[in-house]
Amino acid sequence: MNLISVTDEEELSRTAAEILFAKIKSADRLVFGLPTGNTPLGMYRYLSKYSNEYKQSYQHVYTVNLDEYAGSETYHNYMEKHFFQNIDIPSEHTHLPNGKADNLEDECVRYEGLISKLGGIDVQVLGIGENGHIGFNEPGTNFDARTHVVKLTPSTLQANAKYFTNEEQPTEAITMGIGTILESKEILLLAAGERKARAVMELLKGSLNEEIPATALTMHPNVTVLADQGARMLLDKES
Ligand code: PGA
Repeated sequence: MNLISVTDEEELSRTAAEILFAKIKSADRLVFGLPTGNTPLGMYRYLSKYSNEYKQSYQHVYTVNLDEYAGSETYHNYMEKHFFQNIDIPSEHTHLPNGKADNLEDECVRYEGLISKLGGIDVQVLGIGENGHIGFNEPGTNFDARTHVVKLTPSTLQANAKYFTNEEQPTEAITMGIGTILESKEILLLAAGERKARAVMELLKGSLNEEIPATALTMHPNVTVLADQGARMLLDKES
């Protein structure tokens, strides 16, 4: 596992965007797996800016997001607002699980099929939860799991309550499974702030543990962790 150490969230955002932008410039076709949340906001801001500044088309990019709330379009709206509306990516190239599907189990199967049809994910970008979750794979999730419906934990609900000022916060979501995530060719995990320090230490120093979902990434051959000073706090203390 590679670790890229940066100072703060600003440098983390710029570095993550530079890594992805280099790929966008050089590839003929790319499939990105994308996260939502607070951490990637700056990365989307930079990617939007670079597209404009360097007159770089994103028409050859395809995206599949990690997750969406049941009965809601919260993350659809987030992606539109913070990224898709700022770039020239065709809307038919952008995908999220449909949280409003009549049958969520069928939707999970459809989403897995979609990822396969796209030829798999070239680069999966991940955040990390305070409890070590990746996507909405909460502690205890089987590492082989495919896209599935999850019951969110109180800590995740609390961390994301800010997205629900106008509607009731759903307690369930659809998430790509850890098995799905591990099939990505390359993984870039972003961690910012002291709240993530324990999860980052478990990821980099701990061993496989289903109670800390991110530790599944130690089984993947091409993972880069991009962490700011706060997120490295407990690592730096150890070394
Ligand atoms: P955050 O969420 O970026 O809002 O901290 C990360 C996550 O829960 O995966």
